[in-house]
Amino acid sequence: MKNRKILLGITGGIAAYKSAHLCRLFVRDGADVRVVMSEAACEFITPLTMETLCGKPVPVKMFGRTAGPLEHIDLPDEAEIMVIAPATADYLARCAAGRACDLISSVTLAFTGPVLFAPAMNTNMWNNPATARNVLTLTEEHGWHIVQPSSGDLACGWTGPGRMAEPEEILDAARALFRRDLHGHRILVTAGPTAEDLDPVRFLSNRSTGRMGYAIAHAATRRGADVVLVSGPTALPCPTGVQRVDVRSALEMEQAVNEEVDGCDAVIMSAAVADYRPEQIMEHKIKKEQEGDSRVLQLVKNPDILAGLGARFAKKSRPVLVGFALETRNAIEAARTKLQRKGAHIIVANLAADGLGGDDTRATIIDDREKMFDTGPLTKIELAEKILDHVLEYWDRP
Ligand code: C5P
Repeated sequence: MKNRKILLGITGGIAAYKSAHLCRLFVRDGADVRVVMSEAACEFITPLTMETLCGKPVPVKMFGRTAGPLEHIDLPDEAEIMVIAPATADYLARCAAGRACDLISSVTLAFTGPVLFAPAMNTNMWNNPATARNVLTLTEEHGWHIVQPSSGDLACGWTGPGRMAEPEEILDAARALFRRDLHGHRILVTAGPTAEDLDPVRFLSNRSTGRMGYAIAHAATRRGADVVLVSGPTALPCPTGVQRVDVRSALEMEQAVNEEVDGCDAVIMSAAVADYRPEQIMEHKIKKEQEGDSRVLQLVKNPDILAGLGARFAKKSRPVLVGFALETRNAIEAARTKLQRKGAHIIVANLAADGLGGDDTRATIIDDREKMFDTGPLTKIELAEKILDHVLEYWDRP
């Protein structure tokens, strides 16, 4: 990480003593480190310790003597990545709410680059639904990267999850944020459900949130790819740097994909495309008064977008086509069949219970060259990285 500009934020938990070692590791790796601390962090470790290790003043208070008038803007402006270790429950709550009530929160709010955080807290605080919700907001909506806390004996006497990851692990995760291994590659990602209109106010759809595809688009952009995201209706904000094309129905998605696919090195189809659409979209709202006690909906099959690409690029090495197989049973078998039937190169298989709408997911990645591995339980962001790793490796493999 030679000359990389890292902003290390320390908030008030006992694990703050490990931040001194983390700072040493960054400096030893050649990074240019600035440190910002919360007032509570100073109860556990002194700014002088951190100043000595990083060789620069360590601001703490918004209006303190060490902080210049624009420190809360200058510090984030100058940094390439921000690493918060330890990140306390309260700090995460402040960030999830977008607060700027002290220097470290203001600095975080003003920072636009990748943020890596290493939570540390008591097990019950970690397991509290409010903390879980804040962590989810930060990872999935804000695109922050988490170094998961480990389980073990905590300083408070409890045993369980909440112990900050070791500094070496945080160092590795920080190094990964500088990875630009997808630079020069164009990747098309589809995400979300499709909505198949019945009339001007009703539609058929499914429970896909789009989070998986958005996580892939976000991770690929950060790793240097040029990313176009064809998205069905979702409530998610477009990740920075991603070109998003909004669509509604499967037919619109097919058209957008076909328009964008030329020149792509990979197409990652995480969208949950509706298999059928109503045969007819009524011009006016369907009125129950004009219908009987039951109504038959005539549906017609939607085109299979992935299979269409499989046929179109059948003998070509690019783009690598990645499909998903979300099943309620026999996911691996279904994935194998899909590789063949759709002409895909890689299938990410998971069970609905493990993936759909949930926070964590677990998948098996299978490719047409007989490679298969189980990812184990991961966040969607972590799975996104694994899928991209697999694509990268597939490109390189003969
Ligand atoms: O056939 P099934 O829906 O299970 O296949 C899932 C995979 O195929 C996903 O990658 C999905 O994006 C893609 N798909 C598609 N067009 C469809 C249905 C699914 O591209 N009409």
